[in-house]
Amino acid sequence: MTSASFSRIMCAKHEELQNDKNMGREQKRLLFSREEIDNAVIALSKKINSDYRGRNVLLVGILKGCFVFLADLIRHLDIEVTVDFVILRSYGSATVSSGEIEVIKDLHESIEGKDVLIIEDILDTGLTLSHFKEHLLLRDPRSLKVCALLDKKARRKVDFEADYVGLTIEDGFIVGYGIDCDERYRNLPDIWVLTGEGSEA
Ligand code: PRP
Repeated sequence: MTSASFSRIMCAKHEELQNDKNMGREQKRLLFSREEIDNAVIALSKKINSDYRGRNVLLVGILKGCFVFLADLIRHLDIEVTVDFVILRSYGSATVSSGEIEVIKDLHESIEGKDVLIIEDILDTGLTLSHFKEHLLLRDPRSLKVCALLDKKARRKVDFEADYVGLTIEDGFIVGYGIDCDERYRNLPDIWVLTGEGSEA
């Protein structure tokens, strides 16, 4: 299942919960406060500043989920950076992901000979990033690394690790700080996990 399909199914379950008049429990639980997120972003920026000192790095954000994280991260970087974005879509049915990706919006500029750092909100099954990284490697960047704010190892389907990880999380449906459930909740400043009957939190 693609993460987007999983999102739709989980969000439908969440809507059922919201419509349940007998339910008085919390619908979502705070996972990381803004302070915890800020600390993780600052720690990541220190490593990136140190590793790329003296170099010009092209940050490649994978939309849409990356946009809040990238906006915060970039303001802590004191190295030379440029920014570009892609929009990707997973192939496959609602329940089975082939793992292949389709590039809906490609990079604006060439990455040949450049130091490229992919910026992602969450690393889940790993399918998106493993395929996208292979895709970019064909374009001969000087270096290619991945920075993910969240790493959910429990659902990994392929052997893939990010070079920079902000926070490691357990299984569960995450929303907020740019991350959605059926396009909702991206505006929440903190990171939450959806809870209640039928959720995997
Ligand atoms: C999310 C997230 C990653 C991907 C990770 O994107 O932003 O791109 O899923 O999942 P994976 O490791 O299982 O491949 P989503 O498809 O939900 O789209 P969005 O970024 O537009 O929210």
